Amino acid sequence: MKVLIFETAEAAEYAVAEIVASEVSTRPETVLGLATGGTMLPVYARLCALRSEGLSFAKVTSFNLDEYVGLSSQHPESYHSYMREVLFDHIDILPENCHLPKGDAADVRAECLAYEDKILAHGGIDLQLLGIGRNGHIGFNEPSSSLGSLTRVKTLTESTRQANAPYFTDQEAPKYAITMGIRTILNARTCVLLATSAAKAQAVAQAVEGPLSAICPASALQMHAKTTVVLDRSAAAELRHRDYYGQVHPHGAVHAL
Ligand code: F6R
Repeated sequence: MKVLIFETAEAAEYAVAEIVASEVSTRPETVLGLATGGTMLPVYARLCALRSEGLSFAKVTSFNLDEYVGLSSQHPESYHSYMREVLFDHIDILPENCHLPKGDAADVRAECLAYEDKILAHGGIDLQLLGIGRNGHIGFNEPSSSLGSLTRVKTLTESTRQANAPYFTDQEAPKYAITMGIRTILNARTCVLLATSAAKAQAVAQAVEGPLSAICPASALQMHAKTTVVLDRSAAAELRHRDYYGQVHPHGAVHAL
């Protein structure tokens, strides 16, 4: 696991956008795994800016981690809408190449199986972007999720629902979500997890240095051969070995050696 620690959130976000941009420019037909949430907004804003500087996503395929059960793709708080608003509508990715689970599928279980198959049919995910919940979730794999799980429906914890509640003004935050499983995420060839702010410090410490445990689903990334964790100084604050990570990658530099 590479742990890159940047002084500011802006520098960490910029670095993640650069990782994605470099993947897209060196392999135009790459398959990206995408996350939603507040952490990713500046990353997507930077990718939109890079598009206007010439970066093309025309051959990229994307698969999002998750979607709320019961929300149609047109619902303003759906992750379909989020992705259109913050990324897809501003870059040249083809709509037919953008995949998210259908939250309003008549048969959600069949939808989960079909989503997993679709990822496989595209040759798997090359680069998976991840945020982290305060409780250590990745995607919507809440604590106690099986480390061997594939795409399925998960019940959201009260704390996740509370974190999502401000976005739902005229209805309760959904209780269920379709999410890629932890095994699905670990199957990606590369994972990049971004965490910024002190609110994530404890979850980050458990994920990076805690025991491998379903109680902190992000700790499963310790099993992944090619994961980069990108942090700002506040999110790194509870890492016991942060000085060491800083020595290996001074100021987040990847080619330090
Ligand atoms: C959403 C997702 C979640 C978020 C996590 C952090 O697609 O995968 O795991 O990454 O809940 O959300 P923010 O960034 O809003 O703190």
